[in-house]
Amino acid sequence: MARTPFIAGNWKMHKTVADAEDYIQALLPLVSSIDGVDVAICVPFTDLQAMVDSTRGSRVEVFAQNMHEAEKGAFTGEVTAAMLTEIDVHGVVLGHSERREYYNETDRALAQKLVSALDAGLHPILCVGETEQERERGDTERKLRHQVQEGLERLTAQQIAQITIAYEPIWAIGTGKVATPDQAQEACAFVRALVGDRAADAADVVRVLYGGSVNAANAAELLALADIDGALVGGASLDAETFSQIVAAAVAS
Ligand code: 13P
Repeated sequence: MARTPFIAGNWKMHKTVADAEDYIQALLPLVSSIDGVDVAICVPFTDLQAMVDSTRGSRVEVFAQNMHEAEKGAFTGEVTAAMLTEIDVHGVVLGHSERREYYNETDRALAQKLVSALDAGLHPILCVGETEQERERGDTERKLRHQVQEGLERLTAQQIAQITIAYEPIWAIGTGKVATPDQAQEACAFVRALVGDRAADAADVVRVLYGGSVNAANAAELLALADIDGALVGGASLDAETFSQIVAAAVAS
């Protein structure tokens, strides 16, 4: 089954609204004629409204980088799925390793966040990946199995088919140390097989992205791999020209 490639730029905690407006004015003409690939920018909360307005009618979707699983409540500093859909945000990154590590995001909370996001009509990208020590110990598959199984626990087969999963080895994030094609393909194929264990039909349609030091020079090789359907790009997504080259690589490969 042919899956449409998906390139998402995760800005993390970068860009004021003014920076974001400059960026999107530069990006839109660069990607407007690249067909056959879905494109998203995952931006800080304060940039969401401006980016939704500036991308309306374009091919670029706007994602948040986190949300709370509850419908409302006393959770200072958090936002709900409905708050995101109210301003026409398309999707949300869930369980990024930085949120798991620095903000104690748990698989249990993520399982509920996926349900809440889908119920609200958001497209979730669930992030999974092993640390360097886990890879060295031979525990990569164990970690991925745990994160995927727990994350998908509350979803129906139909809901599983609607999500995207990003495999981001933690040792490759922001380090310039990209996974080898063999490592990336093997892990993404394993993630897809785990999806298949829960929902056989979904395994063919769920997009599995690779993330971790993707740049304009290495994107084509990674994106050509059988089980890699796109990329979640951090640092290299901050420059519109570089990000557009990665978007173009997804179509060429
Ligand atoms: P880098 O591309 O900067 O390594 O970051 C990857 C990432 O964490 C995307 O979510």
